[in-house]
Amino acid sequence: MALLQILHYPDPRLHQVAAPVTRVDDKIRKLIKDMAETMYAAPGIGLAATQVNVHQRVLVIDISETHDQLQVFINPEIIRAEGEEECEEGCLSVPGIYEKVTRAAKVTVKALDEQGRERILEADGLMAVCIQHEMDHLVGRVFVEKLSRLKQQRITAKLTKLTKQQRQAL
Ligand code: NI
Repeated sequence: MALLQILHYPDPRLHQVAAPVTRVDDKIRKLIKDMAETMYAAPGIGLAATQVNVHQRVLVIDISETHDQLQVFINPEIIRAEGEEECEEGCLSVPGIYEKVTRAAKVTVKALDEQGRERILEADGLMAVCIQHEMDHLVGRVFVEKLSRLKQQRITAKLTKLTKQQRQAL
């Protein structure tokens, strides 16, 4: 297993659209293991392959406090969405920023697991938020793009400055 580097907003690679996985093989399973390790180490509750610069439709999520309930979604598709809920979100690609975002309150998602088996999951609460947030990454969307233009500009300025400081520190 290996820790992967997480891209930080406003890195343009975060806007790349991921391609569907055509075969769930050992290479994909290795990616999933590395993504899970990277997510737990961060620490975070969800990670999309796009965030580690792999542009394939793969997500890992674990909202448990014990970090032993890993959920894998390959080629996820929302087949039903209901209601609306506002929730404060953060993102491993946008460190230190937490903002309220409105999304569907309940979703039904169809995906493949790491064995290539089809699974259908009904989710609400934090799990529903997380699935929608991570699926946005796969189409090149970062949650801050749902905020006002002014807020986006502030966040971009703050994170660009942060990246420069990190470069100077190296
Ligand atoms: Ni994110």
